Amino acid sequence: MAGRLEGKVAVITGAGSGIGASMAELFCREGAKVVAADISGRQDDVAKKIGSNCLPFQADVSKSSDVQAMLNAAMTAFGKIDVLVNNAAIDGEMVPTGEYPEEEFDRVWAINGRSVFLGMRYAIPLMLKNGGGSIVNTSSMASVVAFPTMPAYCASKGAITMMTKVVAVEYAAKGIRANIICPGPVVTGITAHMPAEYIEGVKKAVPMNRMADPIEVANLGLFLACDESSFITGSSILIDGGYTSL
Ligand SMILES: NC(=O)c1ccc[n+]([C@@H]2O[C@H](COP(=O)([O-])OP(=O)(O)OC[C@H]3O[C@@H](n4cnc5c(N)ncnc54)[C@H](O)[C@@H]3O)[C@@H](O)[C@H]2O)c1
Repeated sequence: MAGRLEGKVAVITGAGSGIGASMAELFCREGAKVVAADISGRQDDVAKKIGSNCLPFQADVSKSSDVQAMLNAAMTAFGKIDVLVNNAAIDGEMVPTGEYPEEEFDRVWAINGRSVFLGMRYAIPLMLKNGGGSIVNTSSMASVVAFPTMPAYCASKGAITMMTKVVAVEYAAKGIRANIICPGPVVTGITAHMPAEYIEGVKKAVPMNRMADPIEVANLGLFLACDESSFITGSSILIDGGYTSL
């Protein structure tokens, strides 16, 4: 049976860990060729485990030159880009807004928000040449509910939603879809270093009383990336175990 991404080429950022690594593995299993991009170097291990359909690429998504080089690497290796997943992010320091360091705000914005603009800015012309594509941007439930001490993270995640909706409307008639994934708490690198009592509090606030496994979010990414979601664009989809329904 053909995979759900058979013949497609996907570029995934933040693919060295957590949700991005899980998506890289799943997308390849479903027939895609994947560029797994990350700043950490861990993308090499992810790609090695997956095999020859996964090309690791070291990139800092906050740098325009790196983002363009990442997309060019996909074009050179695989000839086109059908899917872009802007997924890399950091949580940043956890400090109340009245004390939040300006430089830290700029750093979080560059990695989480500006990077999504850069990815779309340079992938869209390539996708248009190819007749269209699917953009999946990883936001967070922090785009719809506030997390005290995380003003930069929440702001960046909220901005992703509107950037994506603009692209969805601009390019809907040209074959590009753009959607947003808003995960609740997921067991990944980003949550691994958060204070234990903070994580316990988060878990208690989830009606399902647990955090997600990265594959549960990757499955939503796969659905939005592939043609099964062909009439979905500009949608922001929560995957949060009921957290924001309370
Ligand atoms: N884990 C959660 O609870 C949760 C909840 C909501 C949203 N998210 C979002 O999911 C996405 C994936 O995060 P995750 O939870 O898998 O965390 P993770 O830390 O496991 O993965 C993030 C990856 O991004 C990479 N990265 C960081 N800065 C980068 C940069 N400048 N350039 C390139 N790569 C960079 C890291 O090296 C890491 O491999 C993020 O957008 C995050 O905000 C996560």
